[in-house]
Amino acid sequence: MKVLVIGSGGREHAIAWKLSQSPRLEKLYAAPGNAGIAEVAQLVDIAAKDQAGLLKFCKKESVDLVLVGPEAPLTEGIVDRFEKEGLTIFGPTKFAAQLEGSKVFAKTMMKKLSIPTGEFEVFTSAEKAMDYVAKKGIPIVVKVDGLAGGKGVVVAHSLPKAMEAIHLDMVKKVFGKAGEKVVVEECLEGEEASVIGITDGTTVRLFASSQDHKRIFEGDHGPNTGGMGAYSPAPVVTPEIEKEILEKVFMPIAREFRELGHPFKGFLYAGIMVTPQGVRVLEFNVRLGDPETQVLLPRLKNDLLEVLLAAAGGRLSEVKLEWKDEDCVCVVIASQGYPEEYETGKKIAGVSTARENPDIQVFHAGTKQKDGHLVTAGGRVLNVVGSGRGIFEALSKTYHAVDKLFFDKMYYRKDIGYKAASVSRRAPGTRAPEHQST
Ligand code: AMP
Ligand code: GLY
Repeated sequence: MKVLVIGSGGREHAIAWKLSQSPRLEKLYAAPGNAGIAEVAQLVDIAAKDQAGLLKFCKKESVDLVLVGPEAPLTEGIVDRFEKEGLTIFGPTKFAAQLEGSKVFAKTMMKKLSIPTGEFEVFTSAEKAMDYVAKKGIPIVVKVDGLAGGKGVVVAHSLPKAMEAIHLDMVKKVFGKAGEKVVVEECLEGEEASVIGITDGTTVRLFASSQDHKRIFEGDHGPNTGGMGAYSPAPVVTPEIEKEILEKVFMPIAREFRELGHPFKGFLYAGIMVTPQGVRVLEFNVRLGDPETQVLLPRLKNDLLEVLLAAAGGRLSEVKLEWKDEDCVCVVIASQGYPEEYETGKKIAGVSTARENPDIQVFHAGTKQKDGHLVTAGGRVLNVVGSGRGIFEALSKTYHAVDKLFFDKMYYRKDIGYKAASVSRRAPGTRAPEHQST
């Protein structure tokens, strides 16, 4: 089997690392990949957005399966285009990818299917949106409709902040067309978690639960980032909650897309808030999460390539996902200043020492090779991932490995997993089994 992974972050490194363990894999390519992915795949210098270039490459090399990491190629219709050319690509079509590409589409579908989510209104006029905010009061959430690189959501704890967000989105148009419509949504209080499923359009298999840490500073303070760490499982997602999410969220979505004549094939990610009133869906993504993937794939016992082939071929009902009974933690190592201004080109030391423990993986995000040295090339640089029996062992191993790394102006959060660690847990090995199937 020849497989191409599209993307260049820590998520794609974790995917490539897992795929490289498959006995069925003959050749793995990554476009454009990064310095870490280069250890397990052949890098192809084609950008993720260059659909024509990728298509030409896949045909020339007779690639058997394409997997898309980031959302942009999916919302731009890469799956429709590749399928039309007879290639096997696993992911949602442009129509189905609207679930992530348009918050209005997602919220409207949730309302239609009675999927529990925050109360909301959609606006195309800044004035009307501001009137609504004034009527509802604070706290309130303002979201641009389209993709905005994770910056399109403002959780406003003051009226001026909410009004400013509407002004920036709709009058100043800082997000361009993405902000032509905004969703104004009830502010939900609770604990967030990520529930990711894989579907062939009919069968849905849930992955183990996980939790991201979106804010830059400890204690979940400061601006949102692309994720500063993650852990799996997330104790807040109990087996009962998992079952509820499968039945009330994933199955109705799969059914609806089938009935619309656009079966949803791919990964579906529900960002949820567990509130005192029950579970609410905050958002959908149509891909694997980053950094959630980095803590999920080390726990997956199955051959990922087999799972992807079954899902792409409509045979997911034959697959049972199995998870190692251990906890997994990811600490994101970033450049100081991220998510705003930061420097790059800093020499990175200690990666091979950090990896000496077999329970540790170091996935690369913003790295590159320069003059024979590994150097920083982005805001999020490395993902240190560790597994252990229970959250404390996983945390201790992971932070021990983090201590071995160094580059100038390196920054990471020291409290990853603090929510899981504060939940009283049964002894390792006695956890309820994770939900396996539809
Ligand atoms: P989204 O892109 O919709 O996931 O929003 C990004 C982040 O904003 C989420 O991970 C939450 O932390 C926060 N958020 C989004 N919607 C709400 C909401 N209705 N109430 C509270 N926080 C929210
Ligand atoms: N971890 C959040 C995301 O992948 O969107």
